[in-house]
Amino acid sequence: MKGNFPIDKFQQIRTPFYYYDTDLLRETLRAINNEASKHEGFVVHYAIKANANRKVLNVICQAGLGADCVSGGEIERSIEAGFPSQKIVYAGVGKSDWEINLGLDCNIFCFNVESIPELEVINELAEKKGKIAQVAFRINPNVGAHTHANITTGLAENKFGIAMQDMEEVIEKASKMKNIKFVGLHFHIGSQILDMTDFIALCNRINDLQNQLELHHIKVENINVGGGLGIDYNHPNRKPIPDFKDYFDTYAQHLNLRPGQKLHFELGRAVVGQMGSLITKTLYVKQGTAKQFAIVDAGMTDLIRPALYQAYHKIENISSEEPCETYDVVGPICESSDVFAKAIDINKCHRGDFIAIRSAGAYGEIMASQYNCRKLPTGYITEDFK
Ligand code: LLP
Repeated sequence: MKGNFPIDKFQQIRTPFYYYDTDLLRETLRAINNEASKHEGFVVHYAIKANANRKVLNVICQAGLGADCVSGGEIERSIEAGFPSQKIVYAGVGKSDWEINLGLDCNIFCFNVESIPELEVINELAEKKGKIAQVAFRINPNVGAHTHANITTGLAENKFGIAMQDMEEVIEKASKMKNIKFVGLHFHIGSQILDMTDFIALCNRINDLQNQLELHHIKVENINVGGGLGIDYNHPNRKPIPDFKDYFDTYAQHLNLRPGQKLHFELGRAVVGQMGSLITKTLYVKQGTAKQFAIVDAGMTDLIRPALYQAYHKIENISSEEPCETYDVVGPICESSDVFAKAIDINKCHRGDFIAIRSAGAYGEIMASQYNCRKLPTGYITEDFK
């Protein structure tokens, strides 16, 4: 089964481009709101880093999600898109002064702080402005996730967060700072996680940490468990909406929330991954000595995931129904890693055929580069073709 695309409308548009199915996005958002609202205190933020296309952000913001930002640029982009600053959380190991000042000026909900030196700088900058900065501490839970090594973040060896054994000392320090208010704990173990036992391991860790803090009479108003829920890259059409019921139920069942405590989520990929496809045109079909190549006009500059993480994206020839042949689908960039897939079977390709590279709504357009002086790809939404 292939995806559904308004191909006739694609003819006039310069390729490559991203196509975002906003009907699917809205359905996905409804599923998130529906499942999260079944649990008291659950608050969902969208991780802007996954896709910051303005039209996409507008749809997400209208659904009422908060924004999880990792840079000043993302804070600016979310405010532009209409996210209320009180629903913005800001994480990152290296926040520069202008970014902290921006967060303070916008009165964002919370800085997710990753070190003591950072805490000190936030305190200083807040004092200069006569403001109180709300902070949560990002704790490195030393919980592994069964995902790609480049996208696991919660291990002791990773650069992220504050070590568990330093947690109390940091909270103690914060409580003595005049311009800091401690409001919670933040965690994130990695991305593209499909095995719920990874999230259960995180819940168990958080339960231990909370018990430990309570021994010291420290109360935590907010727990933020980050994002990480994965999508099915192999079968984008089978169940395009991730199992949010299972995901939220897992947390409800395994995390011991205290009365009145809020549980925050920062989902990126699961929100936008399946609604996006990179649409590219076949330039040439070339018979090599051992292989057949479909050379397309999109490259690793438009979608870097296959080159960077050896990530699999399903590829469909959406212009042809002819019997399948085997191709290496490659881009035009002068790098041998500019390959979208090797030896895949797709419908026979001809010059001019549209190729859809699926499940590219997350970490696609936003990670594009201009290498080889290429134009950045444009993102179109369903409404652009009506
Ligand atoms: N919260 C924090 C603190 C994060 O670091 C991330 C992702 C998220 C939330 C959202 O995670 P998600 O729900 O999307 O898994 N470029 C890579 C993924 C990097 C993820 C970085 N952090 C890729 O293309 O797979």
